[in-house]
Amino acid sequence: MIRFAVIGHKAVTEPTFTLNDMPGAAGRMDIMCRCINTSFFLSHDMRRNVECFLILKGGETEKTLVFSGETIRSLNPDERSAGAIIKKGLGTDAGDTFKKAADGIRIRAGGLKELLAEYPFAVLDENGTDIREAESLPENFLLSDHMNFTEEEEELIKDLPRYSVGPRVLHADHTITVLLNEFDRREAGRKEADRVEA
Ligand SMILES: C[S@@+](CC[C@H](N)C(=O)[O-])C[C@H]1O[C@@H](n2cnc3c(N)ncnc32)[C@H](O)[C@@H]1O
Repeated sequence: MIRFAVIGHKAVTEPTFTLNDMPGAAGRMDIMCRCINTSFFLSHDMRRNVECFLILKGGETEKTLVFSGETIRSLNPDERSAGAIIKKGLGTDAGDTFKKAADGIRIRAGGLKELLAEYPFAVLDENGTDIREAESLPENFLLSDHMNFTEEEEELIKDLPRYSVGPRVLHADHTITVLLNEFDRREAGRKEADRVEA
Protein backbone atom coordinates (compact mmCIF):
# COMPACT_ATOMS: atom_id res chain seq x y z
CA MET A 1 0.00 0.00 0.00
CA ILE A 2 1.30 3.45 -0.91
CA ARG A 3 0.10 6.20 1.42
CA PHE A 4 0.09 9.96 1.03
CA ALA A 5 -0.75 12.42 3.78
CA VAL A 6 -1.32 16.03 2.77
CA ILE A 7 -1.55 18.84 5.29
CA GLY A 8 -4.23 21.43 4.47
CA HIS A 9 -3.19 24.26 6.75
CA LYS A 10 -6.27 26.41 6.09
CA ALA A 11 -8.64 23.72 4.81
CA VAL A 12 -11.95 23.94 6.66
CA THR A 13 -13.21 21.13 8.87
CA GLU A 14 -16.97 21.71 8.60
CA PRO A 15 -19.15 20.55 5.69
CA THR A 16 -20.71 23.99 5.20
CA PHE A 17 -18.25 25.14 2.50
CA THR A 18 -19.45 25.68 -1.03
CA LEU A 19 -18.05 23.78 -4.00
CA ASN A 20 -18.11 27.11 -5.86
CA ASP A 21 -15.37 28.61 -3.68
CA MET A 22 -12.99 25.83 -2.71
CA PRO A 23 -9.81 27.90 -3.30
CA GLY A 24 -11.13 30.81 -1.20
CA ALA A 25 -13.51 30.38 1.71
CA ALA A 26 -12.82 26.63 1.96
CA GLY A 27 -9.11 27.30 2.63
CA ARG A 28 -7.51 25.90 -0.57
CA MET A 29 -9.66 22.78 -0.47
CA ASP A 30 -9.02 22.67 -4.25
CA ILE A 31 -5.48 21.50 -3.49
CA MET A 32 -6.83 18.68 -1.33
CA CYS A 33 -9.19 17.67 -4.17
CA ARG A 34 -6.38 17.61 -6.72
CA CYS A 35 -4.24 15.49 -4.39
CA ILE A 36 -7.11 13.01 -4.10
CA ASN A 37 -7.55 12.85 -7.86
CA THR A 38 -3.89 12.44 -8.67
CA SER A 39 -3.50 9.76 -5.97
CA PHE A 40 -6.14 7.54 -7.53
CA PHE A 41 -6.93 8.28 -11.16
CA LEU A 42 -5.39 6.56 -14.11
CA SER A 43 -6.96 6.81 -17.55
CA HIS A 44 -10.12 4.68 -17.26
CA ASP A 45 -8.83 2.99 -14.14
CA MET A 46 -8.00 3.66 -10.50
CA ARG A 47 -5.01 2.93 -8.32
CA ARG A 48 -6.41 0.47 -5.80
CA ASN A 49 -3.17 0.21 -3.81
CA VAL A 50 -3.16 3.84 -2.63
CA GLU A 51 -4.55 5.58 0.44
CA CYS A 52 -4.62 9.36 0.74
CA PHE A 53 -4.96 11.11 4.10
CA LEU A 54 -6.09 14.74 4.19
CA ILE A 55 -5.13 16.50 7.40
CA LEU A 56 -7.48 19.47 7.61
CA LYS A 57 -6.32 22.20 9.97
CA GLY A 58 -8.51 25.19 9.14
CA GLY A 59 -11.13 24.66 11.85
CA GLU A 60 -11.42 24.58 15.61
CA THR A 61 -10.39 20.91 15.78
CA GLU A 62 -8.08 19.19 13.33
CA LYS A 63 -9.71 16.40 11.36
CA THR A 64 -8.25 13.69 9.15
CA LEU A 65 -10.08 12.13 6.22
CA VAL A 66 -8.70 9.02 4.59
CA PHE A 67 -9.59 7.89 1.08
CA SER A 68 -8.88 4.22 0.23
CA GLY A 69 -8.46 3.22 -3.40
CA GLU A 70 -9.44 -0.36 -2.58
CA THR A 71 -13.00 0.51 -1.56
CA ILE A 72 -13.79 3.97 -2.90
CA ARG A 73 -16.84 4.04 -5.19
CA SER A 74 -18.37 7.35 -6.17
CA LEU A 75 -15.31 9.44 -7.02
CA ASN A 76 -15.09 11.07 -10.45
CA PRO A 77 -11.99 12.78 -11.83
CA ASP A 78 -13.03 16.38 -11.33
CA GLU A 79 -12.39 18.65 -8.37
CA ARG A 80 -16.06 19.15 -7.55
CA SER A 81 -16.59 15.40 -7.22
CA ALA A 82 -13.75 15.13 -4.71
CA GLY A 83 -15.03 18.27 -2.96
CA ALA A 84 -18.51 16.78 -2.65
CA ILE A 85 -17.09 13.63 -1.06
CA ILE A 86 -14.99 15.71 1.35
CA LYS A 87 -18.17 17.59 2.32
CA LYS A 88 -19.93 14.28 2.91
CA GLY A 89 -17.00 13.04 5.00
CA LEU A 90 -16.99 16.19 7.11
CA GLY A 91 -20.71 15.74 7.74
CA THR A 92 -19.93 12.59 9.72
CA ASP A 93 -19.14 12.94 13.44
CA ALA A 94 -15.39 12.64 13.98
CA GLY A 95 -14.27 10.75 17.10
CA ASP A 96 -10.89 9.47 18.25
CA THR A 97 -10.88 6.52 15.84
CA PHE A 98 -11.55 6.37 12.11
CA LYS A 99 -15.23 6.00 11.30
CA LYS A 100 -16.76 5.19 7.91
CA ALA A 101 -18.29 8.24 6.22
CA ALA A 102 -18.96 6.58 2.84
CA ASP A 103 -17.51 3.68 0.83
CA GLY A 104 -13.75 4.12 0.94
CA ILE A 105 -13.82 7.27 3.11
CA ARG A 106 -13.23 7.45 6.86
CA ILE A 107 -12.86 10.37 9.26
CA ARG A 108 -11.49 11.01 12.72
CA ALA A 109 -10.54 13.96 14.91
CA GLY A 110 -6.79 14.57 15.14
CA GLY A 111 -4.01 15.21 12.69
CA LEU A 112 -0.35 14.74 11.99
CA LYS A 113 0.76 13.68 15.47
CA GLU A 114 -1.68 10.76 15.54
CA LEU A 115 -0.79 9.67 12.00
CA LEU A 116 2.95 9.74 12.65
CA ALA A 117 2.43 7.35 15.56
CA GLU A 118 0.79 4.86 13.16
CA TYR A 119 2.90 4.86 9.99
CA PRO A 120 6.60 5.41 9.29
CA PHE A 121 6.26 8.44 7.03
CA ALA A 122 8.92 9.96 4.84
CA VAL A 123 8.70 13.66 3.95
CA LEU A 124 8.53 14.84 0.35
CA ASP A 125 10.94 17.73 0.12
CA GLU A 126 12.82 19.12 -2.88
CA ASN A 127 16.06 18.99 -0.87
CA GLY A 128 15.72 15.33 0.07
CA THR A 129 17.30 12.22 -1.47
CA ASP A 130 16.53 11.98 -5.18
CA ILE A 131 13.96 9.18 -5.67
CA ARG A 132 15.86 8.10 -8.80
CA GLU A 133 18.98 7.51 -6.72
CA ALA A 134 17.21 5.60 -3.93
CA GLU A 135 17.69 1.82 -4.07
CA SER A 136 14.27 1.23 -2.53
CA LEU A 137 11.45 3.62 -1.74
CA PRO A 138 9.36 3.88 1.42
CA GLU A 139 5.58 3.57 1.09
CA ASN A 140 4.25 6.42 3.22
CA PHE A 141 4.80 10.03 2.20
CA LEU A 142 3.94 13.37 3.79
CA LEU A 143 3.39 16.57 1.83
CA SER A 144 2.35 20.11 2.61
CA ASP A 145 -0.20 22.13 0.62
CA HIS A 146 0.74 25.58 -0.72
CA MET A 147 2.36 26.57 2.57
CA ASN A 148 5.56 25.56 4.32
CA PHE A 149 5.36 23.07 7.18
CA THR A 150 4.85 25.04 10.39
CA GLU A 151 7.52 25.13 13.11
CA GLU A 152 5.43 22.72 15.17
CA GLU A 153 5.13 20.31 12.24
CA GLU A 154 8.85 20.61 11.47
CA GLU A 155 9.57 19.62 15.05
CA LEU A 156 7.41 16.49 14.67
CA ILE A 157 9.06 15.47 11.37
CA LYS A 158 12.64 16.59 11.93
CA ASP A 159 14.04 13.05 12.15
CA LEU A 160 12.11 11.56 9.22
CA PRO A 161 13.81 10.66 5.94
CA ARG A 162 13.24 13.13 3.10
CA TYR A 163 12.86 12.38 -0.59
CA SER A 164 12.90 14.66 -3.60
CA VAL A 165 11.18 14.05 -6.93
CA GLY A 166 13.37 16.67 -8.63
CA PRO A 167 15.14 20.00 -8.19
CA ARG A 168 12.14 22.32 -8.75
CA VAL A 169 9.40 23.04 -6.19
CA LEU A 170 6.23 21.48 -7.59
CA HIS A 171 2.60 21.64 -6.60
CA ALA A 172 1.68 18.92 -4.13
CA ASP A 173 -0.53 17.04 -6.62
CA HIS A 174 2.17 17.13 -9.30
CA THR A 175 4.67 15.78 -6.77
CA ILE A 176 2.35 12.82 -6.15
CA THR A 177 2.10 12.18 -9.91
CA VAL A 178 5.87 12.16 -10.38
CA LEU A 179 6.37 9.86 -7.40
CA LEU A 180 3.71 7.40 -8.57
CA ASN A 181 5.37 7.41 -11.99
CA GLU A 182 8.60 6.27 -10.31
CA PHE A 183 6.70 3.44 -8.59
CA ASP A 184 5.16 2.49 -11.96
CA ARG A 185 8.56 2.42 -13.66
CA ARG A 186 10.08 0.29 -10.92
CA GLU A 187 7.18 -2.15 -11.06
CA ALA A 188 7.39 -2.38 -14.86
CA GLY A 189 11.15 -2.95 -14.55
CA ARG A 190 10.61 -5.81 -12.10
CA LYS A 191 8.01 -7.42 -14.37
CA GLU A 192 10.33 -7.15 -17.38
CA ALA A 193 13.21 -8.68 -15.37
CA ASP A 194 10.94 -11.58 -14.33
CA ARG A 195 9.84 -12.07 -17.97
CA VAL A 196 13.44 -12.17 -19.25
CA GLU A 197 14.44 -14.58 -16.49
CA ALA A 198 11.51 -16.98 -17.14
C1 LIG B 1 3.76 23.84 -3.37
S1 LIG B 1 4.86 22.91 -2.37
C2 LIG B 1 4.84 23.77 -0.83
C3 LIG B 1 5.19 25.20 -0.89
C4 LIG B 1 6.61 25.51 -0.55
N1 LIG B 1 7.04 24.99 0.73
C5 LIG B 1 6.87 26.98 -0.62
O1 LIG B 1 6.13 27.77 -0.03
O2 LIG B 1 7.82 27.33 -1.32
C6 LIG B 1 3.86 21.52 -1.93
C7 LIG B 1 4.54 20.31 -1.37
O3 LIG B 1 4.92 19.46 -2.44
C8 LIG B 1 6.08 18.75 -2.08
N2 LIG B 1 7.11 19.04 -3.09
C9 LIG B 1 7.14 20.08 -3.97
N3 LIG B 1 8.19 19.98 -4.78
C10 LIG B 1 8.84 18.84 -4.44
C11 LIG B 1 10.01 18.18 -4.92
N4 LIG B 1 10.72 18.67 -5.92
N5 LIG B 1 10.38 17.03 -4.32
C12 LIG B 1 9.66 16.51 -3.29
N6 LIG B 1 8.57 17.09 -2.79
C13 LIG B 1 8.15 18.25 -3.35
C14 LIG B 1 6.49 19.17 -0.69
O4 LIG B 1 5.97 18.24 0.23
C15 LIG B 1 5.78 20.51 -0.56
O5 LIG B 1 5.50 20.79 0.78
